[in-house]
Amino acid sequence: MKNGRDSPERKMAERKENIVMFPFMAQGHIIPFLALAIQMQQRNNCTITFVNTPLNIKKLSSSLPPTSSIRLVEIPFCSSDHGLPPDTENTDAIPYNLVIRLLEASVSLRPSFKKLIQGLIEEQHGQRPLCIIADIFFGWTASVAKELNVFHAIFSGASGYGLACYYSLWMNLPHRKVIDSDAFQLPDFPEASSIHITQLATNIREGDGADAWSIYQKENLSGWLKSDGILFNTVEEFDDVGLLYFRRKICRPAWPIGPVLLPMENRARVGKGGIEWLSTKPVNSVLFVSFGSMNTISASQMMNLAMGLEASGKNFIWVVRPPIGFDINSEFRAKEWLPEGFEERIKDSRRGLLVYNWAPQVEILSHKSVSAFLTHGGWNSVLEALSHGVPMIGWPMAAEQFFNVKLLEEKMGVCVEVARGKSCEVRCEDIVAKIELVMNETKTGKEMRRKACQTMEMIKKAIKNEKGDKGSSVKAMDDFFSAALSMREKSEKEHCGVIQAERIW
Ligand SMILES: *[C@@H]1O[C@H](CO)[C@@H](O)[C@H](O)[C@H]1NC(C)=O
Ligand SMILES: *[C@@H]1O[C@H](CO)[C@@H](O)[C@H](O)[C@H]1NC(C)=O
Repeated sequence: MKNGRDSPERKMAERKENIVMFPFMAQGHIIPFLALAIQMQQRNNCTITFVNTPLNIKKLSSSLPPTSSIRLVEIPFCSSDHGLPPDTENTDAIPYNLVIRLLEASVSLRPSFKKLIQGLIEEQHGQRPLCIIADIFFGWTASVAKELNVFHAIFSGASGYGLACYYSLWMNLPHRKVIDSDAFQLPDFPEASSIHITQLATNIREGDGADAWSIYQKENLSGWLKSDGILFNTVEEFDDVGLLYFRRKICRPAWPIGPVLLPMENRARVGKGGIEWLSTKPVNSVLFVSFGSMNTISASQMMNLAMGLEASGKNFIWVVRPPIGFDINSEFRAKEWLPEGFEERIKDSRRGLLVYNWAPQVEILSHKSVSAFLTHGGWNSVLEALSHGVPMIGWPMAAEQFFNVKLLEEKMGVCVEVARGKSCEVRCEDIVAKIELVMNETKTGKEMRRKACQTMEMIKKAIKNEKGDKGSSVKAMDDFFSAALSMREKSEKEHCGVIQAERIW
């Protein structure tokens, strides 16, 4: 049946389907959605309507290639109506304490979002979009979809395991119920074993059920129960435990369709300097250090990290950003923030390369000279590393990153954690020890590299798309489309039934 008359490919080819995508207004959410949009459009032959607030749409339209046929649609939003500074529509542009206000304000988009979907239906002479795919924070969109009889899915750019821990924490606040210990279990996710209080982001740690974050998360994560399923940017073979959590918790399909990553041509490119430098280094000899585009560390952590990198004697590329307390986009002051003479020494010895602000991450990770990746454990970065078989040293900083690192270390054996959070004490010796553990020819190091390569092979298999030989991620995407198509068919039949019944009466 799979490739026959009823296959999703066949049905998708019969009429051009439209999919509506709606990510939360944060770069870390918009980027994975954009990657998904590009993939679905290319592989599944559908049109994409990408919804967001005006300033985010403006930014997107200038970064998409002119040939892109993704339709960008604005939903009206005025930040100053919600106690936010004027023209702030993205978490990138606001201090952390206002993020919750942006989240709360997003609920006010409901009437305009409903109107927008109704408009799309009218424009298509009554044909509904095949599906609405919304952010994990936009549980409220599921009820809009139900009212308009449109299939609805949540898309998670986070891992199944990471999101399962995150979801369970917000729904249960288990750390509030232990008194005599800093470690606890998740009541509905025992597979995660013990969680330590230092693995909780500040908002979860402080959450008591009555604060704005707890209230928003509890209500809106519950909104998923009205959705038809969850798409995960992950791979079944190594993230099955987390996927299982959602399958039993909300009794909906969880479709692991990853890794969905931005194609190279859609990434900003900067100077080739880093790649040229890498090419002068031996195979498997360089540590890549980057904490993602949104994070930085404290001034004292930065000093100790620099000393550790130098003391390790390994080659490294380090994407540096001003430490906490300084404007993250301001100029990097190496003389002030790094040990005395550090920049000159690593330059003269050609041992290290500092990259300011942004580096072509995938090009670096795919380079044969790179041996390991010191990362904050954001899932996108993790998938990029795993896709190239690169083992990791984890330094999680926010949200579900702590649990991504837990999964990578405890279940997958491709990572060791070196530090936790933006305020912990980081010792130079610990950094050296972890770098040597992963990069030296130690038993652990070799084993980690072997497992990272195994994971890379799993990923290649999961995305294999040949007739008669489809990987798990390709099958999951087929299943998702089949579910959406069959719901629409059913609702159209019911609709015809109603019309006929009206005629008879
Ligand atoms: C989401 O949270 C907001 C703010 O706490 C609340 O007003 C809204 O009703 C919630 N939405 C759903 C679907 O629960
Ligand atoms: C790692 O290798 C370096 C250089 O060969 C050596 O000095 C160091 O002791 C090694 N460390 C471990 C833990 O094997």
